[in-house]
Amino acid sequence: MQGGMNFRIGDIMEETRKVKGAINLELTFNEPYFSKSGVDKESIKKYEIPFEKLKPIEKELLLAAKKAMENAYNPYSHFYVGAAVLTREGKIIVGANVENASYGNTLCAERTALFAANVQGHGDNIIALATIARGEDFDTEVPSAPCGLCRQAIIEFAQRSNQNIEVIFSNTEMTRIAVMKIKDLLPFAFGPADLNITDPGSLGVSKRK
Ligand code: THU
Repeated sequence: MQGGMNFRIGDIMEETRKVKGAINLELTFNEPYFSKSGVDKESIKKYEIPFEKLKPIEKELLLAAKKAMENAYNPYSHFYVGAAVLTREGKIIVGANVENASYGNTLCAERTALFAANVQGHGDNIIALATIARGEDFDTEVPSAPCGLCRQAIIEFAQRSNQNIEVIFSNTEMTRIAVMKIKDLLPFAFGPADLNITDPGSLGVSKRK
């Protein structure tokens, strides 16, 4: 054999396998992540509603979240998040993120508000949740959507409340406000039904008379 022709058949087969593999990977895994900032800046627009177009109660809810944001305990991230939960009877219960020196022990604003609502006896009557955020020295441009853990927590309350909870999330200045339903934020969610619990609304709270 001369020049570049000194291949063994096994090597050629191995090269072919690698190239095929690479082509396959290229076809299967070639979708880029939509945005460096998480929420897709453009796609989120179809869910946006200007502040003036919100219902009065939605405005009130978002303003309550904005106020609550200032009570964030955030010495580690310096990121402020406020949340406000709306019950069927029109009660608003607020929350803010509460951090911890053991970082994983941090609780998001959304869950702080939801759990407070639960303790106040409204766990199975939640219909909406608003959230808003800001940095210490920057405002959010694109509305920050609730994190995955919070979406899962909202799902639990949605099932207890038998309500596809409305989730309103806004940038700091309230110039961009997205309004979505929890089922669209977390489709195919894991829930009580997966554990064979069909009526979570009747569970958890002591029924002792
Ligand atoms: N945070 C929330 O409060 N809600 C979310 O949905 C995302 C993150 C808080 C947790 C932490 O205190 C800070 O924002 C930075 O992650």
